[in-house]
Amino acid sequence: MGKIKRLPQEIARKIAAGEVIERPASVVKELVENALDAGASRVEIDLDKGGKALIRVRDDGQGIPAEDLPLAVERHATSKIGSEADLEAIRTLGFRGEALAAIGSVSHLIITSRPPESPLGARVEVRFGQKSEVVEAGCPQGTVVEVADLFANLPARRRFLKSDRAETTRILETVKALSLAWEGVSFRLKGQGRLLLNLPREDLPDRLGRLLGLGKKDFLPLSLEKEGVKLFGFLSRPEKARHDPRSLYFYVLRRPVKSSLLARALNEATKGFFMSRSYPAGAIFLDLPPERIDVNVHPAKLEVRFRTEGQIFSLLHQAVRQALLEKSRLKAVETRPFTPQLEDIPLEGALESAASSKEAPVVAESTFNYHSPGPRPLGQILATYILCEGDEGLVIYDQHALHERILYEKLRRAVKEKGLAGEPLLFPVVFEAQAPIIEAAEEARRFLQRLGIEARPYGPGQIAVYSWPRGFLKEDIPRVVSDILGRLSQGRMPEGSLLHEILALLACRAAVKAGDHLTEAEMTELLKEAERFPSDYCPHGRPTSAYLKKMDLERLFRRK
Ligand SMILES: Nc1ncnc2c1ncn2[C@@H]1O[C@H](COP(=O)(O)OP(=O)(O)O)[C@@H](O)[C@H]1O
Ligand SMILES: [Mg+2]
Repeated sequence: MGKIKRLPQEIARKIAAGEVIERPASVVKELVENALDAGASRVEIDLDKGGKALIRVRDDGQGIPAEDLPLAVERHATSKIGSEADLEAIRTLGFRGEALAAIGSVSHLIITSRPPESPLGARVEVRFGQKSEVVEAGCPQGTVVEVADLFANLPARRRFLKSDRAETTRILETVKALSLAWEGVSFRLKGQGRLLLNLPREDLPDRLGRLLGLGKKDFLPLSLEKEGVKLFGFLSRPEKARHDPRSLYFYVLRRPVKSSLLARALNEATKGFFMSRSYPAGAIFLDLPPERIDVNVHPAKLEVRFRTEGQIFSLLHQAVRQALLEKSRLKAVETRPFTPQLEDIPLEGALESAASSKEAPVVAESTFNYHSPGPRPLGQILATYILCEGDEGLVIYDQHALHERILYEKLRRAVKEKGLAGEPLLFPVVFEAQAPIIEAAEEARRFLQRLGIEARPYGPGQIAVYSWPRGFLKEDIPRVVSDILGRLSQGRMPEGSLLHEILALLACRAAVKAGDHLTEAEMTELLKEAERFPSDYCPHGRPTSAYLKKMDLERLFRRK
């Protein structure tokens, strides 16, 4: 006798249902998506016991005709796609025709619905897989779906659910995420009679502000379109950062998605603008021809695959960086008309002078032009801050933070373009190192070369450094190299993040320090550079500038 048996249909159905419906929040997600697909302008959700006892979703959408009700709860029955070609171009949230069937096999499901053209509504029930006859039922236009006793026939699944409160929190998160992409729809969520969420129909900045507890002004708008992919959204300003990366929502074709690709691109792009372990909040939407993505990766449709990953990565990266840099344009700094273009200051020059001499910390003498127009420094105070008159009042720069930022941006650019120029060391620097670090030195040769560093294993247990980025302090080569290699060997940090840290470190070391006296020429040069690499934050997230606006001054002197 063979050992393989066909599973009874009922068990097979339960298994399949488990893939779509994992917990109450998955039911809510499916039902709210159905309401949105039906063109609802209002969605109301009621929960009892975190959705374990009851979930009720009511919408004012197009409804389900009575004759369709029996099919709606069948597996693979959907009104949203009809052919394989449609599968390539999905614009609705649902398409698998599985949700209602799955819910019906693990709960007591009741659907009451009335399309606008029908005078009377109809109802169908499914009790743990047993479908009832369709009966007439009074009902306002739209659909009410009730799900009672979820998983009562799957005790293992039921036991695995968390407390009512924890399940409610997940549901709240699910509804929030969807509601951000459907700001024109009103949402109301109640848990055991308590109002948990009440969102009117509004515009996106209002909804974002309401859900994230921020004001409209706290967001930077994002907008970029390239090669048929449109990106838009809002990102919180760095000073409104969160300690939790989860306040940033991604959407593809209005579908909330998790995507490590998008997360990585965002992470790269926000480097140097947010303090470490602080994250932007906001929502980022991607719109692209549906055939360029695959949402059919997972039954819960949470994951999305892009056909052109590199393109999506750089689009998001560029849009975010653009917005962050735009924001920090130093509008307050006075600029005079007819600015002749100065020669580009070579990277090496800037670093060399900054690093090698305390007297001439900013740029090489040759590039200095005293009569050059541009922002005019009023002076330096406490050997740390540069004062400047701007359109709106007084601008105060932190000379170290500002210079650090400029050097960092230059380094980034240089590394991206052709790598940093390395300078051979007269005598190689040799130091002791542990085996993993020595191995890392071998593996990371190209990475190091891009930074102008040439390091190779030397004698047993030793590493020798033969070249070093031109212009940088050579004092602590062993420490810096072991630090870089140590991190690489642990493999915990993506190369991009590591690069950021290394460049930030190099920029920090090479920048003028607090306490360095600057000449007027040096200050002028620094401010001019600031206009080329505008940013309000140093690579570690400290502000580079502060403003005392006319209004602040008037307040100080009680003129108003
Ligand atoms: N709230 C609703 N309003 C109108 N029609 C609905 C609603 N919910 C479900 N339907 C209908 O029932 C069908 C099956 O729903 P579902 O099982 O979620 O599959 P899918 O959403 O993938 O099509 C849908 O295609 C739709 O025609
Ligand atoms: Mg659906």
